[in-house]
Amino acid sequence: MSLDFGPAVALSCRECGARYPLGPSFACQECFGPLEAAYDFGDVSRAEIESGPANIWRYRSLLPVPADVASKPNMNPGWTKLVKAGNLGRALGIKSLYVKDDSGNPTHSFKDRVVAMAVEAARNFGFHTLSCSSTGNLAGAVTAAAARAGLDACVFIPANLEKAKIAMARVFGGRLIGIDGTYDEVNRFCSELIGDPMGDKWGFVNVNLRPYYAEGSKTLAYEIAEQLGWRLPEQIIIPIASGSQLTKIDKGFKELVRLGLVEDTPYKVFGAQALGCSPVSTAYKAGHDVVQPVKPDTIAKSLAIGNPADGPYVLDIARRTGGGVEDVTDAEIVAAMKLLASTEGIFAETAGGVTVGVLKKLTESGVLDPEAETVVLNTGDGLKTLDVLTGEAVEPTAVIKPSLDAFRATV
Ligand SMILES: Cc1ncc(COP(=O)(O)O)c(C=O)c1O
Ligand SMILES: [Zn+2]
Repeated sequence: MSLDFGPAVALSCRECGARYPLGPSFACQECFGPLEAAYDFGDVSRAEIESGPANIWRYRSLLPVPADVASKPNMNPGWTKLVKAGNLGRALGIKSLYVKDDSGNPTHSFKDRVVAMAVEAARNFGFHTLSCSSTGNLAGAVTAAAARAGLDACVFIPANLEKAKIAMARVFGGRLIGIDGTYDEVNRFCSELIGDPMGDKWGFVNVNLRPYYAEGSKTLAYEIAEQLGWRLPEQIIIPIASGSQLTKIDKGFKELVRLGLVEDTPYKVFGAQALGCSPVSTAYKAGHDVVQPVKPDTIAKSLAIGNPADGPYVLDIARRTGGGVEDVTDAEIVAAMKLLASTEGIFAETAGGVTVGVLKKLTESGVLDPEAETVVLNTGDGLKTLDVLTGEAVEPTAVIKPSLDAFRATV
């Protein structure tokens, strides 16, 4: 089998640094630490990137994908809008605020970025089935990407997810298995399936393809920097489920600095969780290095991972950069979704409510610097979590007869 992962040359252990050949492996044989892609980058210039397509493949020379990746059938996610959020900034007292709006991806969440990497890895390893454990968005991204790439799909979710996420995972075909349990239980089940002959030739995007898959989140860092005019933001707020997106955005910023594509300016990384599933913010506030698993109970189902694989790395990054980790209640999440929608015209799913809610809370408590350039992530579309809007929010402001008199009487 001849593998082509572009600039990626090995897998390296994030704990002990041991290196392994590129393969469908995810844990270190020495210390069981997680593996990640390691690269030998050539010269990469801003001009080369800028001449690339308006999607994540403009960064292909920084990703574990072959050079001709853009010519193959895939979803081509990325290059989503970085919205200058002057109205929200004024409402919160933040001078320079941007929303990176990843609801604009093909299946309406940032997960299309990571799955695009997994598809390339599955092709490399000759897998016929694309699979995952998912809190909802990943399931839809996987079934769509598999359909486009001509692979089979079989995805696993907690059975009680939002209807829209279930519909999105089914409409693209493949099999959708609801499991009576939490995401963490679904994930454990998938790990067992990999060890079973049935799971042979299956690419679990967030398990045996994780070292490749996770790299897709770096494209958020690249895009934000390029869209700011090749600069790093001073503060960034990122939602946490497994914590992978946050750690990879930090990796992406560091690579840009190392390659001389941006200046080495300080940036603070803030993680955002829902109070009903806040193992990382709890550890952060207690000053712990270890993240104690919790049983999730929150409307932010896409972030409901009680045992986040990248939790300790998130703590390191928050502390090293001078950032932090904060949480918000379910009521604050809904209020923040409405605030973002009514100020910027962006309808975020609950995960976006979590980041904007944390943005508000940290600004009010004086932790965030209102003078510093700040980017907040919206990672998914509000149409997928309509269920959380109830009462007045889902009724017309008035129901009247079709007459001018009736209208005058209501305004
Ligand atoms: C909309 C949305 N935002 C953020 C995340 C967090 O991702 P991570 O597991 O990389 O922390 C998820 C994870 O499922 C998600 O669905
Ligand atoms: Zn190791």
